[in-house]
Amino acid sequence: METLSITDKEFAQIRDFIYRKTGISMGDSKKALVSGRLFKRLQYYGLRNFTEYFALITSGSSPKELQTAIDLLTTNETYFFREEKHFEFLKTQVLPAVRRGGTYRVWSAACSSGEEPYSLAMLLADGLVGMEFEILASDISTRVLEKARRGLYPMERVERIPPEYLKRYCLRGTGEYDGMLLIEKQLRAKVRFEQVNLIAPMPEVGQFDLIFLRNVMIYFDMETKRQVVGQLLKALKPRGYFFIGHSESLMGVTDKLTMLRPSIYRHASAE
Ligand SMILES: C[S@@+](CC[C@H](N)C(=O)[O-])C[C@H]1O[C@@H](n2cnc3c(N)ncnc32)[C@H](O)[C@@H]1O
Repeated sequence: METLSITDKEFAQIRDFIYRKTGISMGDSKKALVSGRLFKRLQYYGLRNFTEYFALITSGSSPKELQTAIDLLTTNETYFFREEKHFEFLKTQVLPAVRRGGTYRVWSAACSSGEEPYSLAMLLADGLVGMEFEILASDISTRVLEKARRGLYPMERVERIPPEYLKRYCLRGTGEYDGMLLIEKQLRAKVRFEQVNLIAPMPEVGQFDLIFLRNVMIYFDMETKRQVVGQLLKALKPRGYFFIGHSESLMGVTDKLTMLRPSIYRHASAE
């Protein structure tokens, strides 16, 4: 059997539970996706239906399986230098104005498998010569965070990395890593990966000069967007920049930011 149909009641239970845990809103169109992605877990445990699986992840007896369900139900698509204009803006408008002294701090707040924070690390290493910087990269999915920490990617994922960055910050795999690319160790050391659930109370992470919150708000409803952005803004320095995905909007979400370009914002007080 390839899959098992999920009843409306089972779907509603899982949907509501995942919403409470992650903030991810799933409409009825996601029914097939949910049953398709979770079916192998039912098989793994020899369960007869989604009601039994729901009982397993909500019982509190198997936090690991709850994390697996979250890993399976999040969408982690990403790539290096995604939304090029953001990197161009940083390179030409933001980094040249960074003052010496102190550590430039960046948060990639839904970093998926690491392509976004490593792209930022390359740009900062190039643009902030002789200055200190650090990147916090976080996600709710432990599966993608593990991948991200390794910094090892199939060669075909790297075509958007500018050639001079490829040369400077990446190593070509050999032997068992043939066809792979490894982010160079010193650059990897600039990025700290941590699990952070954006809808949970925020851990003590300090203040940031730049926050990337890209391509995750599309999964949230208005109330969740407000809550998440409100929390993150507490961690943004008064003159800090805030970037969202091009297909996302902050309309009705916050009035604390001023738009500089579509999807690029700064604290209203900074202008
Ligand atoms: C489509 S990826 C975006 C990756 C990257 N920011 C980009 O733009 O390419 C969305 C990521 O958001 C994460 N995510 C979803 N809900 C989350 C939550 N409540 N807290 C933290 N991360 C979450 C998912 O695990 C996924 O890796």
